Amino acid sequence: MFITLEGPEGSGKTSAVKIVVERLAKEGYSIIQTREPGGTPIAEQIRDVILDKANTALDPRAEALLYAASRRQHLVEKVWPAIKEGKIVICDRFLDSSLAYQGGARGLGVDEILNINLFATEGKWPDLTLLFDIDPRIGLERINKNANREVNRLDLEKLEFHLKVRETFLKLAKQYQDRYVIIDASMSIEEVAEATYKAIKDKLNAN
Ligand code: TYD
Repeated sequence: MFITLEGPEGSGKTSAVKIVVERLAKEGYSIIQTREPGGTPIAEQIRDVILDKANTALDPRAEALLYAASRRQHLVEKVWPAIKEGKIVICDRFLDSSLAYQGGARGLGVDEILNINLFATEGKWPDLTLLFDIDPRIGLERINKNANREVNRLDLEKLEFHLKVRETFLKLAKQYQDRYVIIDASMSIEEVAEATYKAIKDKLNAN
């Protein structure tokens, strides 16, 4: 089972899922949590290039290709082997982030970004994608309040960019209804964690 977490900045998805992963592990599920870009040493090196605030000259298409390259490396080295061993893999961000950020907000086109990513993923899709939906105005305010979280190159984009990210995610959720579940991330962390737990359990029980 391959589960991906998506959403605009400051949706709290990482904190909510940490709670859920611990709960599922206690119930006896074999589960790993990972993230994109990164998740393996080579993919983390690619992440550093992408998110480095000094790389203001990074070309948008080069950026999109780097995300896809990091994705590919992570799938081959970590995600697919774990799934083969029967584990549940929960990945913080995946292909849909490229569609929303590079395709939608950056304006490269969702179809174009999908094409380069299908090469990277060999056309394999997640079983379940949780969209932690939140108004970016609230999300960005949360980030700014959280002094421990490092601000990255994409956080520095204007509000308009983040509104586009959200809009594209919501379109994708409509287009791929069979794998998407939308979670209202404006709720408290406990409520978000509960809704996340329920969505994952429903999927596990359906299989
Ligand atoms: P990260 O600090 O992991 O953000 P978050 O905690 O919000 O998940 O940084 C990842 C950033 O990269 C985030 O701004 C979203 C962006 N991103 C893309 O633009 N395209 C992608 O394909 C992926 C995976 C992430």
